[in-house]
Amino acid sequence: MSKDITLYDKSIDPTNYTIVGDKGMGKTTLIKNLLKILIRNNEAVIAYDRLFQFEDILPCYDFVNVVPDGVNRQFCIRQDTVENFMAIAEEYRKQVLKENPKDRLYVIIDEIDTVYGTHGPITNDPLTKKLLVDMVDYSRHKRIETWGCVRRPQRVWMNYYEQSERIFLFHVSGGLAREKLLQTIGSKEMMRAVSRLKPHKFLVYPDEIDIYDSFGTKTLDLGTQENEE
Ligand SMILES: Nc1ncnc2c1ncn2[C@@H]1O[C@H](COP(=O)(O)OP(=O)(O)OP(=O)(O)O)[C@@H](O)[C@H]1O
Ligand SMILES: [Mg+2]
Repeated sequence: MSKDITLYDKSIDPTNYTIVGDKGMGKTTLIKNLLKILIRNNEAVIAYDRLFQFEDILPCYDFVNVVPDGVNRQFCIRQDTVENFMAIAEEYRKQVLKENPKDRLYVIIDEIDTVYGTHGPITNDPLTKKLLVDMVDYSRHKRIETWGCVRRPQRVWMNYYEQSERIFLFHVSGGLAREKLLQTIGSKEMMRAVSRLKPHKFLVYPDEIDIYDSFGTKTLDLGTQENEE
């Protein structure tokens, strides 16, 4: 039996979350569920998705130099360098916190293992790899909550995962990917559980071994009331 999971909880300080899993296991579905909850709660969100998958729920732009006028708190950029994306996120962060210093900005990146920097793709450019790690490190202190999905965890630097408060683990089959995950979570028992997961089911590191489903989510409001989604 799978359970519901709380993706939105503002009683926890803004932090970094990572979603890992093979193709088609449900990573983007989980992110979309989160996006819907954030939209419903009028949170400020900037998403980065190179595959046009959020078009039905968010305004999407190919490329922007400034935060688009009249944007309704949430938007997505789909074709851009990670440097430009981060510059826009920083500008939006300032706008959001100027209005309310206690607020937070959600930065959501689908497929962090495919991002492009000015100097090339993350696969072979150390600068791009480092940018992503720096972004997460910087964000934690700047009231930005970051969420990233990754299909090939071995492409991203270890420091990235070390900064993840929680890692959502879907089924992972590749040898290199599994090796990287074992290094990251350090638990053979959890890796065995990951290898037994059915599609669309996931575990959450470092929590106990409960199984969740990418369609099942619930909201927790400011640590006091639980609302079924
Ligand atoms: N819990 C679920 N129950 C049934 N179908 C699901 C569930 N979660 C996702 N799916 C379906 O599985 C398909 C793949 O899901 P999704 O795009 O989220 O995978 P992904 O992990 O992001 O894959 P990729 O690495 O290719 O981006 C979609 O058609 C989605 O609707
Ligand atoms: Mg996806």
